[in-house]
Amino acid sequence: MRVLGISGSLRQHSHNSRLLRVAARSLPPGAELEIWEGLGGVPPYSEDDERGPAPTAVADLRRSVAAADAVLIATPEYNSSVPGQLKNALDWLSRPLAENPLRNKPAAVIGASAGMFGAAWAQAELRKVLKAIGARVVEGDLPVGNAHETLAHEGRLADGGLQARLEQLLAGMVDEARVRERLAA
Ligand code: FNR
Repeated sequence: MRVLGISGSLRQHSHNSRLLRVAARSLPPGAELEIWEGLGGVPPYSEDDERGPAPTAVADLRRSVAAADAVLIATPEYNSSVPGQLKNALDWLSRPLAENPLRNKPAAVIGASAGMFGAAWAQAELRKVLKAIGARVVEGDLPVGNAHETLAHEGRLADGGLQARLEQLLAGMVDEARVRERLAA
């Protein structure tokens, strides 16, 4: 079971990238997380560019999503919403809508912020966007607030309740992917 992880942050010491690494260790047995690192190379989307070959980073993202059994996105919150670079990559991925690689793909959303609300608004918006694109979005969020403390240790969230919630969310996503795998067999 292959899960593709995408951090919505381009920052070197990103809390959300760190959160993804925690998620990698919190998956149920039999599932593995591969982190996609190409976000910074995705150019601004324009409908005009759909006519030519896809930019390299976009083609790579499409292939990586298509090859994954599920997608896990850790999003920062910028001005109460999804960061532009992440939304831009999703806009690329969504085209053409009928055959985009996120269609029917199990997906889950988590997020971290330096403040106390844990990017909750961005996560809600991101779930909405993913549903619009056609992904099978697992209900529930993971608001990792006060990220300096909650993500102080590699491997596990400092808050035990939040760690349990993360494991539950990931298990739900993997269950959904296993159901889809059985349906496709
Ligand atoms: C932020 N930040 C922020 N935090 C929040 O909780 N709500 C918000 O609306 C915003 N808005 C916002 C806008 C912009 C342009 C920046 C750069 C930052 C703070 C943000 O949560 C913090 O920088 C996180 O650390 C970003 O995530 P990464 O890069 O650490 O993964």
